[in-house]
Amino acid sequence: MEGISNRGPAGLFVCFLVALFLFVPSPAVASSRCVEPVSFSWCDTSLSPDHRADLLLAAMTDQEKISLLGGDDLGGVTGRAGTHTGTSNGIARLAIPTIYFSDGPAGVRSGKATAMPSPISLGASFDPSNSALDARVIADEVIKKGNDVVFAPTVDIVRTPIAGRVFEALGGEDPYLSSRLAVPWIKSVQAKGLIADVKHYMGNNQEGTGPTADDARPGNIAVSLGVLAPIGNRMRIDARIDERTMREMYLPMFEAAVKKADVASVMCAYNKVNGPFACENKFLLEDILRDEWGFRGLTIADYSAVHDAGASLVNGLDIEPWPGTIYGPASVNAALATGPATMSDVDRHVRRYLRTLFAYGAMDRAGYPADEAAIDQAGNAARSRKVAEKGLVLLKNDGVLPLNRTKLDQVAVIGPGANSFLAGGGSSAIDPFSTTTPFEAITRVAGPGVKVVTDDGSDPARAAQLAANSDVAVVVAASYSTEGVDRTCLTFECPPVYGDQDSLIRTVADANRKSVVVMVSGGPMLTPWRKEVAGLIEAWYPGSRGGSAIARVLFGKVDASGRLPVTFPKSEADLPTADDPNAYPGVNDVVDYDEGLFVGYRHYDTLKITPAYPFGHGLSYTKFRFSRLKIRGPRKGSKSRTAGPKVSIRVRNTGRRRGVAIPQLYLALKGTKAVPQPPKALKGFKRVTLNPGKARRVQFKLDRRAFSFWNADKDRWQVVRGCAKVLVGRSSREARLRSPIGPRGPAVTSSFHGGGKTCR
Ligand code: BGC
Repeated sequence: MEGISNRGPAGLFVCFLVALFLFVPSPAVASSRCVEPVSFSWCDTSLSPDHRADLLLAAMTDQEKISLLGGDDLGGVTGRAGTHTGTSNGIARLAIPTIYFSDGPAGVRSGKATAMPSPISLGASFDPSNSALDARVIADEVIKKGNDVVFAPTVDIVRTPIAGRVFEALGGEDPYLSSRLAVPWIKSVQAKGLIADVKHYMGNNQEGTGPTADDARPGNIAVSLGVLAPIGNRMRIDARIDERTMREMYLPMFEAAVKKADVASVMCAYNKVNGPFACENKFLLEDILRDEWGFRGLTIADYSAVHDAGASLVNGLDIEPWPGTIYGPASVNAALATGPATMSDVDRHVRRYLRTLFAYGAMDRAGYPADEAAIDQAGNAARSRKVAEKGLVLLKNDGVLPLNRTKLDQVAVIGPGANSFLAGGGSSAIDPFSTTTPFEAITRVAGPGVKVVTDDGSDPARAAQLAANSDVAVVVAASYSTEGVDRTCLTFECPPVYGDQDSLIRTVADANRKSVVVMVSGGPMLTPWRKEVAGLIEAWYPGSRGGSAIARVLFGKVDASGRLPVTFPKSEADLPTADDPNAYPGVNDVVDYDEGLFVGYRHYDTLKITPAYPFGHGLSYTKFRFSRLKIRGPRKGSKSRTAGPKVSIRVRNTGRRRGVAIPQLYLALKGTKAVPQPPKALKGFKRVTLNPGKARRVQFKLDRRAFSFWNADKDRWQVVRGCAKVLVGRSSREARLRSPIGPRGPAVTSSFHGGGKTCR
């Protein structure tokens, strides 16, 4: 146990080997619940969850309590059919049910499932209702595979775009976007009767790197074992984050999950945060989460993120769902024998576990039967396509798109992504029920009058020949990202799984002026050839029906409607952590978040670096005019202490097609030397669909928090003094409607950032 508790890659290696090769199905423990005819006092649904948890706890023996701290299934984490990612055996004599846990953020992970688009694609949709739809599909399959808890959503911020799990980051590089999408996601899965588990709390923003990091490829087990990432490994690093940065950049999504979505559980991360490991970090687990935010649910450790039973017991970790290496009976009993942890710590954690089961309904319903046949595969695949379509981002269009099939004789679909299903690796990798590739879908959408030909791009000269003989060439370029190791650069060659696609793109573009590149990638890519191509789309990992989503956007069956939730830089030298090994990958396992708030567009804006494509950018097939910005203060007589002004603009579709506008509202707060501010930060957005010629007034509601910073000395949010500026527009770099504004309404000064007294 001791050896495993020291979680280097070697410790993990042992765990995974055990999981893979000594796979023993979870012992079937007779499970019962309060729905069965039982006469336990804690089954009385008229009592509060707290009261019921107290009654049940009082009926348990110490060893029964301890048995609930650690999970009971080692092998389900492999994701095989008929398994669960985790299992916590129940106690039949007390009607405590066996609880099943499943990954994850892109779908249920046990055997085959509908692959939903990678979460960053939801970020690109800027659409809370799209996030809710995604969540409903995942919840449906998680339940129909017999699970009670889903390990999702992933809300960690994209601190550096080379990080391995960028594709999983729901809101990309922005905490406001991430919060707005996480809340409906969580509410939707919990409304279906599941327990959501928002992750990874917190500072889990890199996987690590090493000399063999480029060996990452689908199926390479060394990645899951962590051996490709000995440097800056997520299992060991200490993320050193100052408190203001933490509060403003890395905690808001978790705070929103607790306060606005009533999330039932929170997964603590692998890494340390300012000293202690996240799963034994009292500041995070007790002070902030519970005392300050009022969280009453369950904290769950990431897989093998527990190191010291005593420290976790004392500092706030409730359960470890993977079997009890550290939170198992042996090490918990040992920790209790030596102290300082006591049985009252165990009681506290078990009580929270039970309370959560009562509060979220798991005790008072029958177990969900695993019934894969009940899954509406066709329906969920169609939903997956709908979700994906909204996330595709049209980065560049010289007029070649949308493709008009009546004017085409031949289309070439080229590249390693043309005929494959691509997804990110790790715990959110889904084995899809079925897939549609871009080539198949383009052939179908183009219809019988158009010849669609394909080439895998492995021989650029051959591909160029095909492109030259076609009216349009579509290059579907593929990039691999995975949990377990970061990318070593931002081009298609890192890792070099799919060959030198930058050359392929250039050769094809040279052969046919009407070349369109569709990037299937986990996150930002370098696009050094962007001036040479006629059209450019970022498709992320678009899920089971990704090919259809791509074809339908290419042919304009739906508008191109995604916007970037992450900046696409021109060069790696421009990254916030460039040339700073202390910041990334860290030195001696210490990672200094010394860029502070200046992550993503906050960094590029501050240093006036022009990115290739800025945060919020994305073209539509129609044109919009944004005009007439208005600001109204909170209602007269409003006593709300949190309400702020309402900002509205008029959006008109001035083009000839129905399309989607996503006006974005940014606030520029007045910075000082002591409290610097980025030039702007996203505080509102709306996704608006309009027919040609139609207009609508679009309103954004601001609250006091939008005007505040975290005052670390006073330990509270504080409104920034001085006038702010509101900017509304189509991206972080094209926000042309501007006005001074204060937390109570329009400013009466005409000079931006003018004297504090002039703002109401
Ligand atoms: C990941 C979690 C995941 C867990 C179980 C870990 O490696 O970090 O996100 O839920 O595995 O698969």
